[in-house]
Amino acid sequence: MPERTERLGGQGNRENMPMNRRTTVVSSNNDMFERREAAIPRGVGSACRIVIDRAENSELFDVEGRRYIDFAAGIAVMNVGHSHPKVREAVTAQLEKVAHACFQVTPYTPYIELAERLNAAAPGPSPKKTIFLTSGAEAVENAIKIARRHTGRSAVITFTGGYHGRTMFTLGMTGKVVPYKAGFGPMPGDIFHVPFPIDLHGVSVDASMHAIEQVFKGDVEASGVAAIVLEPILGEGGFYPAPPALMRRLRELCDQHGILLVADEIQTGFARTGKMFAMHHHDVEVDLMTVAKSLGGGLPISGVIGRAEIMDAPTAGGLGGTYGGNALSCAAGLAVLDIIEEEGLCDRAVAQGARIQAHMKKAAERLEVIGDVRGTGAMCAVELFQDASRKKPAPELAKKAQALALEEGLVVLSCGLHGNVLRVLAPLTISDPLLDEGLAILEHSIERAMGAI
Ligand SMILES: Cc1ncc(COP(=O)(O)O)c(C=O)c1O
Repeated sequence: MPERTERLGGQGNRENMPMNRRTTVVSSNNDMFERREAAIPRGVGSACRIVIDRAENSELFDVEGRRYIDFAAGIAVMNVGHSHPKVREAVTAQLEKVAHACFQVTPYTPYIELAERLNAAAPGPSPKKTIFLTSGAEAVENAIKIARRHTGRSAVITFTGGYHGRTMFTLGMTGKVVPYKAGFGPMPGDIFHVPFPIDLHGVSVDASMHAIEQVFKGDVEASGVAAIVLEPILGEGGFYPAPPALMRRLRELCDQHGILLVADEIQTGFARTGKMFAMHHHDVEVDLMTVAKSLGGGLPISGVIGRAEIMDAPTAGGLGGTYGGNALSCAAGLAVLDIIEEEGLCDRAVAQGARIQAHMKKAAERLEVIGDVRGTGAMCAVELFQDASRKKPAPELAKKAQALALEEGLVVLSCGLHGNVLRVLAPLTISDPLLDEGLAILEHSIERAMGAI
């Protein structure tokens, strides 16, 4: 598909701007950053010191008219590319009918249709039901509510390095202290963390399963656990896939003790990994899964999809939220599902991932700091170490490479418990030439960062 690009015209000028009026007239990234810092608390960090004016497929344009290749996709939100014409059309058409009615007051068709489509698309043979919420964290919160109501139990087991959100309960579930949890305690109770199996870091599936047994001995009885929640591929935690053996053994353990198995597919969903959901790579069915991010093609929507009898555990009024499954977001979601199918985005994710890995593995032959290049579909990562021994993570190097990439016109994010992983999350609709251009910048930035540190 050709890049949908168009250069910016002349930029406005902020001089003589009345400060009490809302305006889109801007001058420079620096000016906007000064205003940002004065108006917005620093707790909302920004990875890039640029201010975006518009975006088109896999390119971003800042307020100065500079173009950037987007390897972040709004943190895995824009799988179908920025401003896809079909999403725009669907949202515009819905806006002309009804923007918001609140599903708990008067239901509307797009919510029902989207739920039906997701029930059919979700992995596993069991009949499904779906509820829509607004943010990813809200979906995870609701999955826990449903699991508690269904099991009559309270405890939750999650994994160190996992990320489930910033609301109070999901913050408790998130397995990374800085910057997410530090200073925000006390954390909610009845949440227990176990290590995620990562070969590269010497943690085996046996070790993870043993840690769960230890939780049952030292913290909470198995019959008190409502759910085990995990990302099928750690996102924020560094793009490590859950080994198939882990999924199988968790399923067995959950069945043995009446615990629900919950997959957080918020980052991995909607063709990113080369299949509709990452759980399609596994031969076990989970009880509940959470979705968000790329479902809305840029509009905020999340959901919990699960086995129908479990989803029906809460009684009427127990679930919901004013904006959950907003009509515009549902219309966008339906368009996204069509685009994934029509444009063959699962296949494109596989091809894109192969291209990324081939490029970065070749770079790794030259740059010894690249200790690992991995990926599932187009969810790819490059892990940086201080030297070829792969013992000491190199977070400073990752940070520097990220900043240098931005200078050269590439937006890319880091992740990982140690912050030493660069993750590639380009829109699945990116063209090969643009992808190659971005990868060349990434490689060059890592090399420059090696010289700078
Ligand atoms: C796996 C996972 N779960 C939950 C969340 C939280 O989603 P949100 O930021 O929309 O609340 C994220 C966000 O990055 C995520 O990657």
